[in-house]
Amino acid sequence: MTETPHKRGFNHFKGTAGYIASDELMEAVNCAIALERPLLIKGEPGTGKTLLAKHIAEALGMPMESWHVKSTSKASEGLYVYDTIQRLNDARFGDGDVGDIRAYIKLGPLGRTFKAEERHVLLIDEIDKADMEFPNDLLLELDEMRFTVMETGDEISAKQRPVVIITSNNEKELPDAFLRRCIFHFIDFPDVELMKQIIGVHHPNLDAALLDQVLIKFYWLRGQNELRKKPSTSELIDWISALLRSGVTRSRLEAHIPFLGSLLKNEQDTESLLDYTSKDGSIPRRWEDLGPKFNQ
Ligand SMILES: Nc1ncnc2c1ncn2[C@@H]1O[C@H](COP(=O)(O)OP(=O)(O)OP(=O)(O)O)[C@@H](O)[C@H]1O
Ligand SMILES: [Mg+2]
Repeated sequence: MTETPHKRGFNHFKGTAGYIASDELMEAVNCAIALERPLLIKGEPGTGKTLLAKHIAEALGMPMESWHVKSTSKASEGLYVYDTIQRLNDARFGDGDVGDIRAYIKLGPLGRTFKAEERHVLLIDEIDKADMEFPNDLLLELDEMRFTVMETGDEISAKQRPVVIITSNNEKELPDAFLRRCIFHFIDFPDVELMKQIIGVHHPNLDAALLDQVLIKFYWLRGQNELRKKPSTSELIDWISALLRSGVTRSRLEAHIPFLGSLLKNEQDTESLLDYTSKDGSIPRRWEDLGPKFNQ
């Protein structure tokens, strides 16, 4: 099917050589770009939320600014900070022109993307780390893409509206007024086919039979309900790196899960697996062993 010109104008993002996006994720990204609204991305840890912003920037050929939010972050710091300490020091030690307040206004990531000539991707990473007021305090600036520097009266208005990507690990609910302004996407945990493509990005020359054994073990582990922390995509990629470096063979992998520490990050989880195997619990070797979900 050929794309209409209108549709071609919509589909700006199709993933990159280094980032595999599902159709639904591509749709959400393109919708956010078209509507010039922030894209709010949620999903399990390690499912590529943060990395997405970098690859959107790469795909669109835009520079990127990142704002990694912490529990102590304040929304105003994303706009600018007034460096009063520096000004005080300069006044005491006679350095610089302390009369020029503008010299002490340091723009934050939002401020820098607004001021830039070139359109940017702006990542606001882990917005749920900060307090409840944080997203509310950004509503106006994200809507209107402008703010005023109180100390100087200067208005900073976005020359080009940045493509805003916001990630959340769901530690806190976000306010409705904030959600209303965003396009939302939850990154579902990748199915086997998508996971094979993601692994292909990081380990392109992996033997297909070995990959099958890796994935059988991985999806089996993730299916164990008693696990407190399920291994994620990033842990799977690390595990494969460890397996490759150790020169593991497919036949060894059939009966064992070596380097458990790169997959399980909780002593109870490790113990329960070791317990299970020491009591002659079998580890699956074939997709058929995983049940109907994996054998359609
Ligand atoms: N779709 C994907 N394509 C390529 N690599 C991926 C993808 N998803 C995850 N990865 C791999 O997983 C790693 C973790 O991704 P990232 O740091 O973006 O996860 P995250 O969702 O932000 O996790 P956290 O919630 O812990 O911050 C990446 O460095 C990359 O190696
Ligand atoms: Mg992240």
